[in-house]
Amino acid sequence: MSPSPDGRTDPRFAKALLQRDDAFRREDESADASFYQQPRLVSHLDRTALNTVERLVAGLIVEDDPVVLDLMASVDSHLPSRRRFSKVTGLGMNEEELRANPSLTDWVVKDLNADPTLPFADGTFDVVLNVVSVEYLTRPVEVFEEVGRVLKPGGIFLVVFSTRWFPPKVVRVWEDAREEERLGIVEAFFRDSGAFASSEYFISMGLPRPEDDRYFSLGVPSDPIFAVFAEKKGLVLDRRNRLVLRDPAQLDTDWAAVQARKEHVGETMECPHCQQRLSKWEVPDDPCIDWPNDFLYLCFNDFCPFVVRGWRYMWNQGILGTSYRYLYNPLKGTSTTVPIRGLADLRPGIVEEDPAGRFRSAIEAGLVDFSALPEVDDYGPDLGPARG
Ligand SMILES: C[S@@+](CC[C@H](N)C(=O)[O-])C[C@H]1O[C@@H](n2cnc3c(N)ncnc32)[C@H](O)[C@@H]1O
Repeated sequence: MSPSPDGRTDPRFAKALLQRDDAFRREDESADASFYQQPRLVSHLDRTALNTVERLVAGLIVEDDPVVLDLMASVDSHLPSRRRFSKVTGLGMNEEELRANPSLTDWVVKDLNADPTLPFADGTFDVVLNVVSVEYLTRPVEVFEEVGRVLKPGGIFLVVFSTRWFPPKVVRVWEDAREEERLGIVEAFFRDSGAFASSEYFISMGLPRPEDDRYFSLGVPSDPIFAVFAEKKGLVLDRRNRLVLRDPAQLDTDWAAVQARKEHVGETMECPHCQQRLSKWEVPDDPCIDWPNDFLYLCFNDFCPFVVRGWRYMWNQGILGTSYRYLYNPLKGTSTTVPIRGLADLRPGIVEEDPAGRFRSAIEAGLVDFSALPEVDDYGPDLGPARG
């Protein structure tokens, strides 16, 4: 398992969340068939996010003419159009949506919550995709076991999710978890199914939302993309040349340069670790806080190497889900740290923030794996439509 960006993929952490009695209950417990009866011929992600998913898929599929299963499929295909596939099967809840998906060569309508078995023979597929849907499964480990059964040895299962869903049908553990905890939940499904080699994760956040997107005016960035993927046990050697993602915890740091930058924070007002502009932060009016300042300056880059390493460092001390942000005290001219229990902590106190900074610096610092992905257009010669 790759290290988590914040220590929350620790097996003990996900286990506690998943053991709750109501973990897989939903607001709407009626049969899924009625909820999905009406076709939704829409995209569930913005175009930039869809492009990221397609690039990720392009980087991870290394087989020639693979046989693909798109699990919990709808109208959108996530397969790169320049690749050829020998067969692409879709499984979903609505036939009209599946019929409209341009990549599918055949499809099955099936409710996996009513019966988590997959109607396919052992070792059928090279690749199984599950995009923005895992949060609707009430028996996920059984489905992951089945995916393991229908994959060929060394075949890949890629689970992608974001931060949007149908509220009545999402399982409670998903809704209650924080973004970073969901990586751990999906890793637990992989692990508990017993069918897969160790899983890896991918995160892309903060790319610009397309201007013609219906939420563009809200000023929010593109939908974030989180993915967890693993190969079925029983490695086949020639499949090993998949995209290699970088591990943000293994960063090379020039500590002398960090130290030198610390000397000048008062002039630059930049975090010495990631060089993102610091945000002005109002000190809360709280008797437990003894800073005499009205304001302090904090780094709110969630991918700042200091924050990324902090989760790991604290985890190694046996403290789960805790890290630190860099803090500059303008009265004393000193650098220090402040603990956080999650990425949202302390944000309410921000009074001035570079709106793009949180995300831009993550990408520029190379801490987001996105940079490792091939451009879809650059990915091999144009082989024509994806249909087999
Ligand atoms: C948000 S959509 C995502 C569709 C598609 N994977 C995509 O990337 O656009 C969720 C999908 O999960 C499927 N789904 C939901 N509950 C399901 C169930 N119980 N069994 C099988 N599929 C289900 C539905 O068919 C629906 O298309």
